[in-house]
Amino acid sequence: MKLKELNQTGIKIPSIGMGTWGIGGGLTPDYSKDEEFIQLLITGLKLGLTLIDTAEMYGAGHTEELVGEAIKNFPREKIFIITKVLPENLRFKDLIKAAEQSLKRLKTPYIDLYLIHAPNPKIPLKESMEAMEKLKEEGLIKFIGVSNFKVVQMEEAQKYLKNSYLVANQVEYNLFYRRIERDILPYCEKRNITVIAYSPLARGLIPKDEFIQKVALKYNKTASQLALNWLIKKPKVIAIPKSSKVERLKEFIGATDWELSKEDEEKILKYVILRYN
Ligand SMILES: NC(=O)c1ccc[n+]([C@@H]2O[C@H](COP(=O)([O-])OP(=O)(O)OC[C@H]3O[C@@H](n4cnc5c(N)ncnc54)[C@H](OP(=O)(O)O)[C@@H]3O)[C@@H](O)[C@H]2O)c1
Repeated sequence: MKLKELNQTGIKIPSIGMGTWGIGGGLTPDYSKDEEFIQLLITGLKLGLTLIDTAEMYGAGHTEELVGEAIKNFPREKIFIITKVLPENLRFKDLIKAAEQSLKRLKTPYIDLYLIHAPNPKIPLKESMEAMEKLKEEGLIKFIGVSNFKVVQMEEAQKYLKNSYLVANQVEYNLFYRRIERDILPYCEKRNITVIAYSPLARGLIPKDEFIQKVALKYNKTASQLALNWLIKKPKVIAIPKSSKVERLKEFIGATDWELSKEDEEKILKYVILRYN
């Protein structure tokens, strides 16, 4: 697995991790496939997908519980856990409480990277960032990040951090949706901030695209592998694809350690602009 340094931390993280939206429910918990999902996550971890992205929102907390079950038999330091606090929990006390509850569900003493899931204009960001820094001082989280933040919001967030860097912004980014290339990506590249690309397979659309499949086949790869390879080639970008199927997790691993030619990349980008814009 190709590793990347998290912004000025010296910590190396996998360039591909596991997304977990839909594992253990959507907006409400679903307990019907618990054992299957715990085994799925364990298999992913064994395969080398040792970065897991989750959130208090997913399965209304149940997804974190499943992640907690899956990680408990692995050495904690070998796993990198990202979770997120809901925008309605961004008041100082609420944010601390949300983190404590996530830790309980994850059955772990610390969260590696804690993200504000999305901005909430009704709550002063200063308050939230102070709470984030308090959690970090207490060792309950290792690093601070955000999700779905625009450049100005990232700048504001950094302004309120006294002793920490904002290390990541998790945003939607894939071959079919390249909005962040206008501003967020160049900003993060300049500031050394890791971009965590969510929905890297365009929520399952890319694997089904016949043109992308055809180009990928030239390399003996699949469309998913091509899409992920294209993302992680960018120095600051890591990707968190999601699948509920073991074969597909194996497929994700095959996205690293090969190179798409410049010519094929251009061909694909041209096709995408004509087909999807
Ligand atoms: N911060 C945020 O606001 C935010 C927002 C969205 C997502 N996220 C995070 O990012 C992760 C990934 O994003 P995502 O789940 O939205 O989308 P994604 O990873 O782009 O796509 C996942 C979907 O693609 C399907 N899929 C995977 N491989 C496939 C294949 N070979 N053929 C056909 N379908 C395939 C999966 O179905 P199967 O499960 O059936 O394989 C799943 O429905 C999430 O799970 C979550 O952790 C964060």
